[in-house]
Amino acid sequence: MSYVIHMFLPALGIMGNCLDSSAKVEAAHSSRTPSGISKTSPSSVPSNLSILSYSEASDFSNLPTPRSEGEILSSPNLKAFTFNELKNATRNFRPDSLLGEGGFGFVYKGWIDEHTLTASKPGSGMVVAVKKLKPEGLQGHKEWLTEVDYLGQLHHQNLVKLIGYCVEGENRLLVYEFMSKGSLENHLFRRGPQPLSWSVRMKVAIGAARGLSFLHNAKSQVIYRDFKASNILLDAEFNAKLSDFGLAKAGPTGDRTHVSTQVMGTQGYAAPEYVATGRLTAKSDVYSFGVVLLELLSGRRAVDRSKAGEEQNLVEWAKPYLGDKRRLFRIMDTKLGGQYPQKGAYMAATLALKCLNREAKARPPMTEVLETLELIATSKPAGRNCQLEQKRVHAPDRKSSVQKGSHLNHTPTAFP
Ligand SMILES: Nc1ncnc2c1ncn2[C@@H]1O[C@H](COP(=O)(O)OP(=O)(O)OP(=O)(O)O)[C@@H](O)[C@H]1O
Ligand SMILES: [Mg+2]
Repeated sequence: MSYVIHMFLPALGIMGNCLDSSAKVEAAHSSRTPSGISKTSPSSVPSNLSILSYSEASDFSNLPTPRSEGEILSSPNLKAFTFNELKNATRNFRPDSLLGEGGFGFVYKGWIDEHTLTASKPGSGMVVAVKKLKPEGLQGHKEWLTEVDYLGQLHHQNLVKLIGYCVEGENRLLVYEFMSKGSLENHLFRRGPQPLSWSVRMKVAIGAARGLSFLHNAKSQVIYRDFKASNILLDAEFNAKLSDFGLAKAGPTGDRTHVSTQVMGTQGYAAPEYVATGRLTAKSDVYSFGVVLLELLSGRRAVDRSKAGEEQNLVEWAKPYLGDKRRLFRIMDTKLGGQYPQKGAYMAATLALKCLNREAKARPPMTEVLETLELIATSKPAGRNCQLEQKRVHAPDRKSSVQKGSHLNHTPTAFP
């Protein structure tokens, strides 16, 4: 789950602003004032929230039908847990069960019986990840419900499996399959884990591309809207699965070319035309995919405030190198130790460049992105890697491959 970018559309001549969480609500159940700021009713939980959803992942109807909260929560694919059950499953949300923290809240490791799905003794039964929402009101609830809605219906090997949820008083929780290798963000940017090899990076890119491609090509298209390294989770074999569907949105239907929304997403990953106009298309996800592909190649964060000037923005910094075969090694992750095929790296860089095209229409569809990545992964290495070149010359700004200042906060913030 994610914080949101709150940007009020420059196209309408509206100033950017940062709202408190009670005002962080999007079009579906908010009214827009002339200033573009969404207002919400003061009630903390809407009783009959309608959001767009689908009848079945494998058999979407053409016209998405809004479902009530009651309908969403009665999904036959999901177990409704009591708060007590999840308290027991996580040993009372003990700090040593903590897996991570995001904008939504804390994520704990828990154990449940795989048949009855009731809490089991720690160490026995099935391991799960339990996400506990910080009590922050309406926006949190809406994203929580959107996630239950989508993941209650969409099933694919590259989407994280939602096992169940808990709604009790102020408490909102989600129970997922446990992804033992955590997020891609942890592996790329945090100190500790072994650096990912080239082939694992390509495997992750392919898995994530399959997940996005599935969403975009569903009978009723789904736009994911929050594609970023922290939302790509990895299982024991580095199979990638997309998590966090709180911002997901139904794609345009009929003759419409886009959906108009309040801009939400994560700075550094969101497509420029979407940020500027609020017009959302599947090509916005393709742009974000290009940013993550660049992160995989360079080992750098989309936005890194510890860097100087224009180097803070990965896309701006890396773009000039991507189409240049001879200079590409300058932006490649030094943690790869030069162990990557030159041709494959160049193909991946060219692909990233296409995804990052400022013209949304010129970006390739995810099916094409996936095909190219599969080609890169299966093509034979040319027998040469970049080790020598990388030793000889370093990119000007890459003094150290270790992230300074530990984890740079990458949770979304309001755009300036
Ligand atoms: N299903 C899971 N299995 C294992 N670990 C998980 C799982 N879901 C989340 N985590 C861990 O919890 C961390 C926090 O996840 P969360 O989705 O709350 O935040 P985030 O993605 O880092 O940030 P944001 O709130 O911006 O999406 C992840 O980085 C990951 O390490
Ligand atoms: Mg996340």
